[in-house]
Amino acid sequence: VREIPLLSSRLYVGPGARAEVGRTLRALLPDARRVFLLTDKNCERYGRDVQGALRQSGFEVEGSSLPPGETQKKLATAGRLHELLARKKFDRKSVLVAVGGGVITDLGGFVASTYMRGIALAMVSTTLLGQVDAAIGGKTAVNLPQGKNLVGTFYQPRAVFLDPTVLTTLPPREFVSGLGEVAKYVVIRDAELGALIEREIEAIRRREAPVLDEIVYRCAAIKADVVSKDEKESGLRAILNYGHTIGHALEAAGGYKTLFHGEAISIGMEAEAILAMELGIAPLEVLAAQNRLLRLCGLPTRVKRMARQKVLAAMKLDKKGVDGRLRFVLPEAIGRVRWPVEVPAPLIATALRTITA
Ligand SMILES: NC(=O)c1ccc[n+]([C@@H]2O[C@H](COP(=O)([O-])OP(=O)(O)OC[C@H]3O[C@@H](n4cnc5c(N)ncnc54)[C@H](O)[C@@H]3O)[C@@H](O)[C@H]2O)c1
Ligand SMILES: [Zn+2]
Repeated sequence: VREIPLLSSRLYVGPGARAEVGRTLRALLPDARRVFLLTDKNCERYGRDVQGALRQSGFEVEGSSLPPGETQKKLATAGRLHELLARKKFDRKSVLVAVGGGVITDLGGFVASTYMRGIALAMVSTTLLGQVDAAIGGKTAVNLPQGKNLVGTFYQPRAVFLDPTVLTTLPPREFVSGLGEVAKYVVIRDAELGALIEREIEAIRRREAPVLDEIVYRCAAIKADVVSKDEKESGLRAILNYGHTIGHALEAAGGYKTLFHGEAISIGMEAEAILAMELGIAPLEVLAAQNRLLRLCGLPTRVKRMARQKVLAAMKLDKKGVDGRLRFVLPEAIGRVRWPVEVPAPLIATALRTITA
């Protein structure tokens, strides 16, 4: 298990990391006694592992297992959890441990950061998207009917456990979607990781622990480095949004039903690399190399039956007229991005025509 420091937090990466939760929290929080463990139905087996480890280290563990899915990430569920904590008399010395994907870690993080103005938080991330992104960086959130992640806090967990062996039970489409976020790190920072993926794609498809460990470690280290230089997203952290300006708009235009997040990011990266090429920021070879990597991972680079007007509307470009400009993170090479780049609206419309063709 390798350790990555991140502000007041620590990431523990490696096969078997989930067995270390008890010992690690015991050392970090010598006065803590009670743990509230939050998980969902699909992650209960990992919840039980973590519960066992915590009990062995002398923690008293109670918890809650929610139905899976994004619909749980709302204020009503957070409120129910706050009340449950209060009824069970959890105090400021207690710990919330979230075991699950991004839904559970975002929601658990939000509850931990607000209950009694903040109790200690730890996360055991169980999805690839969570291990390389959602569980790292201290952003917590719940959704409102008006939009995703509209209510939330910045709150660093004390410890985050990234155990790649739990990824073997992830549904195939969830796993591939997570690779979309991995490919993003290749393009913004780590060309060597791209070469590793090309070399090891068969082992990745078989979800072998050593190669997943290396992938998760490298991505987590990049995100930790970026976040520790810019915790509240005033500058550098924006590079993590590569592929997301168009990717988010694709997700929204599809009503969050057509595309998984990583799939939308993959198509968004394709579109944004086209912009980079059109603007002379990157040569055609960059677009081609990125396209090859995405397809090798099994990710889409095109989307059918998507109304371009809806996508433009989601980027608010419909209101900005032909002079509308948006700031993008664009690749200069595999492993290096430029930010911010203002892109004129007509060029964006052209890139959208290519990816929705
Ligand atoms: N806080 C952040 O910085 C940040 C960053 C990116 C995304 N997010 C958020 O993360 C959420 C998406 O996260 P996600 O993709 O992990 O979704 P998720 O938590 O819904 O997990 C996806 C599905 O996989 C199941 N699952 C999880 N782990 C499993 C395992 N090991 N084996 C079998 N099934 C498993 C879950 O029950 C769920 O059905 C979104 O709400 C998004 O807003 C947050
Ligand atoms: Zn993302």
